[in-house]
Amino acid sequence: MPCNCPVTQPGPTLASTCGGAPFMLFMGLLEVFLRSQCDLEDPCGRPQKPRILPEYDFIIVGGGSAGAVVASRLSEIPEWNVLLIEAGLDEPTGTQVPSMFLNFIGSEIDWGYLTEPEDNACLGETERRCYWPRGKVLGGTSVMNGMMYMRGSQKDYDSWAALGNEGWSYNEVLPYFLKSEDNKQMDSMEQGYHASGGLLTVSQFPYHPPLSRAIVKGGEELGYPTRDLNGPYHAGFSIAQTTNKNGSRMSTARAFLRPFNKHRRNLNILLNSTVTKVIINTTTKTAYGVEVINNGNKQLIYASKEVIVSGGAVNSPQILLLSGIGPKEDLQQVGVPVVHDLPGVGKNLQNHVAFFVNYHINDTNSAPLNWATAMEYLLFRDGLMSGTGISEVTALINSKYADPAGDHPDLQFFFGGFLANCARTGQVGERLDNTSRSIQIIPAVLHPKSRGYIKLRDNNPLSHPLIYARYYSDPDDLKVVVDGIKFALKLAETKALKRYGFQLDRTHVAGCEKFAFGTDDYWECAAKQQTGPENHQAGSCKMGPPSDSMAVVNPLLQVYGIDRLRVMDTSIMPHVTSGNTNAPAIMIAEKGSDMIKSRWLTPEAGFFYTNMPNQRIDRRWGSW
Ligand SMILES: Cc1cc2nc3c(=O)[nH]c(=O)nc-3n(C[C@H](O)[C@H](O)[C@H](O)COP(=O)(O)OP(=O)(O)OC[C@H]3O[C@@H](n4cnc5c(N)ncnc54)[C@H](O)[C@@H]3O)c2cc1C
Ligand SMILES: *[C@@H]1O[C@H](CO)[C@@H](O)[C@H](O)[C@H]1NC(C)=O
Ligand SMILES: *[C@@H]1O[C@H](CO)[C@@H](O)[C@H](O)[C@H]1NC(C)=O
Ligand SMILES: *[C@@H]1O[C@H](CO)[C@@H](O)[C@H](O)[C@H]1NC(C)=O
Ligand SMILES: *[C@@H]1O[C@H](CO)[C@@H](O)[C@H](O)[C@H]1NC(C)=O
Ligand SMILES: *[C@@H]1O[C@H](CO)[C@@H](O)[C@H](O)[C@H]1NC(C)=O
Repeated sequence: MPCNCPVTQPGPTLASTCGGAPFMLFMGLLEVFLRSQCDLEDPCGRPQKPRILPEYDFIIVGGGSAGAVVASRLSEIPEWNVLLIEAGLDEPTGTQVPSMFLNFIGSEIDWGYLTEPEDNACLGETERRCYWPRGKVLGGTSVMNGMMYMRGSQKDYDSWAALGNEGWSYNEVLPYFLKSEDNKQMDSMEQGYHASGGLLTVSQFPYHPPLSRAIVKGGEELGYPTRDLNGPYHAGFSIAQTTNKNGSRMSTARAFLRPFNKHRRNLNILLNSTVTKVIINTTTKTAYGVEVINNGNKQLIYASKEVIVSGGAVNSPQILLLSGIGPKEDLQQVGVPVVHDLPGVGKNLQNHVAFFVNYHINDTNSAPLNWATAMEYLLFRDGLMSGTGISEVTALINSKYADPAGDHPDLQFFFGGFLANCARTGQVGERLDNTSRSIQIIPAVLHPKSRGYIKLRDNNPLSHPLIYARYYSDPDDLKVVVDGIKFALKLAETKALKRYGFQLDRTHVAGCEKFAFGTDDYWECAAKQQTGPENHQAGSCKMGPPSDSMAVVNPLLQVYGIDRLRVMDTSIMPHVTSGNTNAPAIMIAEKGSDMIKSRWLTPEAGFFYTNMPNQRIDRRWGSW
């Protein structure tokens, strides 16, 4: 296939956390192959180095899952000049290969956050700190995530609305999930819950290892249906749909920006540039631009209409705090001048939390990562490298503490360890120490009661903030995870999985020697020692009605007390959704973008929801 466009941005090379010289050589050669493939590299759609204007209509801070969508939607209006500022560089080529998703954790595209020492979690880690990977790259964490497309339960959104967040009930957010979606398997999905023709390709991976199907069968043996978990019912097992297109990753940068980079003159993307604060007129309490560090130089860029902060659940509160918006005492403590005392900024931080139950299985001699699988991928986009192994499987179930009639499962299961990769990350996916076959069944607590918070370390905008995750600070979360572990044990006993010789790894978790293996006390201890910190951070700039003094943004995502400033990403969730958080971040951005349009455009000016490009939704769900 001829590749006529020049490669404008080499991007970082493939990262590798282990494997030694042969592995590195393999990855290097693979990189060369991938770069010669137009569809993966897609140099034509990569952002060019822009000439930065002194003023834009809109400035978006952070080009991640949400920010890339906001930039794409706002720049649909030709009269608006839009600037997207991203701290990282462009997506590296290798991230588009699904099987490599864990290789980028700890690489140069990862912010690599560590929490402050925890009291009840990550006790077995150095200094009791949990590791939080987050994407620092155009596309944000959608460039390094597991790609699973999960929207959460209907109850999630209905309860946001019940808190006073008008417009956020399930029926009101569903059209915004559909707006993005280009579902390639419409016929096998629940009718009325999916759409095609959007910018974000959604589909199962092309290749499923046999064990994926066996896990789903195991679920059936235990009475759980195999179903579309984004449909009308939420409990069950699934080989999940993911954000992939024909076996390569669909980050939000690829889905929402690359199709337009070349032709939308009114959209500029500034890479490798960190916003250090939003500039605010303290008399009018109005945001009117940002301060940004680019190549060591500080620069002010002005916004005549709005600034949208989409830095993610760690960085969005950090950016507000650096701008003087936050709890007064905390700001004074680090010497940041107070612009608006807003006590909720950085509070209400929440995340799912998991435990990896480890198994050894018979070596099934399934295709390892080698030249044959690489060629299969390069030529046909199929085989082991076109998916994430058994990490594509998930299940939502009720623990014994959930309301069985509520259709609002409180446990999600992930599966890891079936790729020939040896990253040891503690994250969803795998934890394969060496060539022996080990598998993890990973229960995650979906409705954590524990809450953490984020504070500034100092007034240096380039310092990482202080992160207090406070997992298991509410002991009910431990009870739920232990119930999840027991479900994992049952699942491994099903006929479908016994065939693979699942053997529970009975090695005592270090630090839990005083408990008899397998007792509740033992599992509680194990969950605290070897915590799966999960990656679904949310809530740190929460949305709420004016009556909620801890709310940071109103239901239009506008920061309380400051005009022309909004937050759009997972930080606005009042409570984290019951599933992975990428699709909800995209939905929040879609909905927020429409809110901006309805403020600044009138129907007379040619705007109304229904005449937007690329907007195709299932009309059974009515108009907006
Ligand atoms: C290992 C891993 C696996 C995951 N697996 C899944 C999965 O399978 N399915 C799923 O749905 N979710 C998954 N998630 C979670 C999901 O990807 C995130 O919740 C989601 O991407 C968050 O979107 P966001 O827009 O809130 O933030 P992000 O996507 O993190 O975007 C924030 C962006 O802002 C930039 N930024 C921050 N500060 C500044 C600044 N000061 N100046 C300029 N730019 C800045 C960042 O560099 C980043 O690009 C996973 C996450 C991880 C880490
Ligand atoms: C703030 O707004 C007021 C009123 O519009 C204006 O007079 C003043 O110059 C502005 N200050 C700055 C720093 O822009
Ligand atoms: C990114 O910025 C840093 C300085 O902050 C600079 O050293 C580096 O060369 C830049 N990288 C690219 C690819 O522009
Ligand atoms: C997937 O990509 C391969 C390799 O480029 C190509 O042969 C195949 O037709 C593609 N399949 C689809 C469904 O686009
Ligand atoms: C692989 O790991 C297992 C468990 O961690 C260990 O018992 C075994 O000795 C290791 N094998 C090799 C070849 O390193
Ligand atoms: C897998 O291992 C189990 C016991 O560990 C054994 O009984 C079974 O025969 C093995 N199955 C295969 C297919 O090798």
